[in-house]
Amino acid sequence: MKVVTLRSPGGLDQLQVVERDAPGEPGPGEIRVRVKASSLNFHDYGVVSGMIPADDGRIPMSDGAGVVEVVGDGVEEFSVGDAVVSTFFPHWLDGSARVADFKTTPGDGIDGYAREQVTRPATWFTHAPRGYSHEEAATLTTAGLTAWRALVVDGNLKAGDTVLTLGTGGVSIFALQFAKAMGARVISTSSSDEKIEKLKELGADHTINYKSEPEWGKKVKALTDGRGVDHVIEVGGPGTLPQSIDAVCIGGHIALIGILTGRGGEVPTIKLMAKQARLQGLIVGSRTQQQEMVRGIEAIGVRPIIDSTFALGEIADAFRHEEAGRHFGKICLSL
Ligand SMILES: NC(=O)c1ccc[n+]([C@@H]2O[C@H](COP(=O)([O-])OP(=O)(O)OC[C@H]3O[C@@H](n4cnc5c(N)ncnc54)[C@H](OP(=O)(O)O)[C@@H]3O)[C@@H](O)[C@H]2O)c1
Repeated sequence: MKVVTLRSPGGLDQLQVVERDAPGEPGPGEIRVRVKASSLNFHDYGVVSGMIPADDGRIPMSDGAGVVEVVGDGVEEFSVGDAVVSTFFPHWLDGSARVADFKTTPGDGIDGYAREQVTRPATWFTHAPRGYSHEEAATLTTAGLTAWRALVVDGNLKAGDTVLTLGTGGVSIFALQFAKAMGARVISTSSSDEKIEKLKELGADHTINYKSEPEWGKKVKALTDGRGVDHVIEVGGPGTLPQSIDAVCIGGHIALIGILTGRGGEVPTIKLMAKQARLQGLIVGSRTQQQEMVRGIEAIGVRPIIDSTFALGEIADAFRHEEAGRHFGKICLSL
């Protein structure tokens, strides 16, 4: 089978496609999956570019979707032919968060899904939404579940709430789609007027170009009659958090998700305190939350926005496309 490995110390020119023996038959509780698709996240880019150190020979990619080929003894949840999608934290099945690192995350601390086949415990996967392509399913492991958890699990989103999304990456576009499908109003930002037109097509009620409107927090308040938004999907980090604090309503919720502008910086703590807002960090979610999201998707009918799809052997080009920042939504790999 074909596998992509990353030579240490990383870098897109250190990705190589190699031939490996197919994985063995599944043992008790395991399944063998023919991986058909993966999708790119900023975290995967961190690994393959060498920003996040990985072991020599690491198989990248946290997201994997495909078809169950063989079922081991005692597996009742899946049958041969089922469409499945991998989980980000294979050992966090249920309950509140209990992992704060990436040591067990496929594509980072352990081998990921840039490979044609894999044999793993059945609990490392969930069913994919009915009717999804494998590429669509692969977008759920990281980006989809992060947006779902931010809004639905941590945010208790309800119809009539107002949500602010930042930029047009995978997490933010999912958040826009989930929020609209669940009856919320959405304000979305982007650096590109062309992408802003696409945000409108997806149903964004208001849009802001954060480059031409650097004080976008004030603009968000004006668009909400001075109240501010109930939820912020904060993917920017230190460079955007002060504006997000301006934009959030009193008692609102900022889901602290990303670090697109850097790893640390000043926080206007007095404003956050006065707003009595909740700043909630999160990393993806549990297997149970993924199962709930799959049920939710089947009910509300959201389909992921896929910007482009690359073959496994074009993985470096796929990451160059992400690096260039021209994408809108998800970039996928097809195997
Ligand atoms: N905590 C978690 O569980 C979790 C899960 C997934 C992702 N993340 C993090 O969330 C962030 C986004 O991830 P992703 O995979 O969605 O990334 P992505 O698909 O690569 O999205 C990048 C997009 O972010 C936007 N952006 C860049 N700088 C921005 C800024 N200063 N203000 C607003 N938007 C900006 C750009 O949109 P425009 O081109 O429209 O300007 C860009 O296209 C990353 O930091 C990632 O590590 C965290």
